[in-house]
Amino acid sequence: MIAANVPELPAGDSPDLILVPATPEERTASIKLNSIVWKGPLDVETYIAREDHLYNQRLTRDGLTCWILVDGTEPEGDRTILSSCETYQKKALLAHDGQVEDASTHGVGSVYCRPEFRGKGYAKRMLEELSRKLDTWHMEKQPRGRALFTILFSDIGKKFYAQFGWRPFLSSHMVLPARAEEPLSNGAAGKSVTRDLYAEDVRTNMCSDAVIAKLRDQMCVASKLSHVAKVAIVPDFDHFVWHWAREEFFAQELFSHRPPPTIKGAGNDAARVYCTWNRNFGETPEDNVLYILRWVYDEPTSQEEEQTLVQAMAAILRRAQHEAKEWGLHTVEFWNPEPLLQQAVKVLDPDAEVVHREKTSISSLRWTGDEHGLGQDVEWLLNEKYTWC
Ligand SMILES: CC(C)(COP(=O)(O)OP(=O)(O)OC[C@H]1O[C@@H](n2cnc3c(N)ncnc32)[C@H](O)[C@@H]1OP(=O)(O)O)[C@@H](O)C(=O)NCCC(=O)NCCS
Repeated sequence: MIAANVPELPAGDSPDLILVPATPEERTASIKLNSIVWKGPLDVETYIAREDHLYNQRLTRDGLTCWILVDGTEPEGDRTILSSCETYQKKALLAHDGQVEDASTHGVGSVYCRPEFRGKGYAKRMLEELSRKLDTWHMEKQPRGRALFTILFSDIGKKFYAQFGWRPFLSSHMVLPARAEEPLSNGAAGKSVTRDLYAEDVRTNMCSDAVIAKLRDQMCVASKLSHVAKVAIVPDFDHFVWHWAREEFFAQELFSHRPPPTIKGAGNDAARVYCTWNRNFGETPEDNVLYILRWVYDEPTSQEEEQTLVQAMAAILRRAQHEAKEWGLHTVEFWNPEPLLQQAVKVLDPDAEVVHREKTSISSLRWTGDEHGLGQDVEWLLNEKYTWC
């Protein structure tokens, strides 16, 4: 029998390889290819529908690009996808030397190469090309005309992406188990003050102009105290809506018999602390996690305020544990907890420890601000789960 005539694959360093935005058909083809690792409990068609649903959210509608590495000598419409990824444009803030600037960045996600093409240098080539392209991609309207940084979350450790400039940043978390028990008392603040937050409450209490203005002020003050440039992804309402679109899609598919998950967080008005969350439904029980996307609170100014805040946070966490149980989730997880939050966790579980991740969800940031006189180092503020994409 004569073997089928399989075209030889190009080398990863071939001058013919180009990185281009995918056509809509190529985007669907790349989602189909990566479905084997990322479809979770969904079938392929439903997974594609989920990706389209996310694409159509406000956060991503105009800012998402699906990139493919192809052989530039192949005709468009008939190109072999050698490797692929997505980038999401996001609003950001940059603080340096007592000034705060509006900025823009890209998050990189879904870096993928099909199993039979792996080890040929395609992903490396794609990321080399991408790192250069992203500096100016869709940056025409930005004051500096360039992205000074881009981010990604590595699931393959700390080394691979570092070779292209995405340096690992703090990647820690704490975990609490789902629990059915009654809510925790807020101590002095009283048990009744923990309240559920619905989407509009999150908008009002966590994403208002006043909250963002406060963030700008804090970044401004911090930048006067140290010369290291500081960046943050703006924690706007669109981010949370994007995460919720994901949980709502899953809930509709997996729990069509029950109402959608409308409780999006919990807060305490007296202690002025709020958090918002997102339910993640995966393939294994361990993947079923209620992630706290973001916390908002004012720094306490006295010991008494600190105690009230810690108790309120503990009660909110207990509410989150309860919500996780309600949805059959395994754990509650939150990233890079500040010391006050760590104290709150100890109220619930004295043995809980901060976990430093070495392999998955490594927050990584590529900084090019040094080329613009902003120094070699950068601090990533609000390195919380809401920034994940
Ligand atoms: C990661 C991935 C994109 C690499 O694609 P590739 O085209 O084979 O990569 P390249 O040939 O350019 O480079 C290979 C390098 O990838 C790195 N790599 C691949 N898989 C890895 C893993 N699971 N853990 C750590 N490093 C890994 C290695 O550093 C390897 O380097 P080596 O050649 O020195 O051993 C591919 O393995 C893949 O699609 N995996 C499944 C999806 C995934 O995990 N994506 C990353 C999400 S953050």
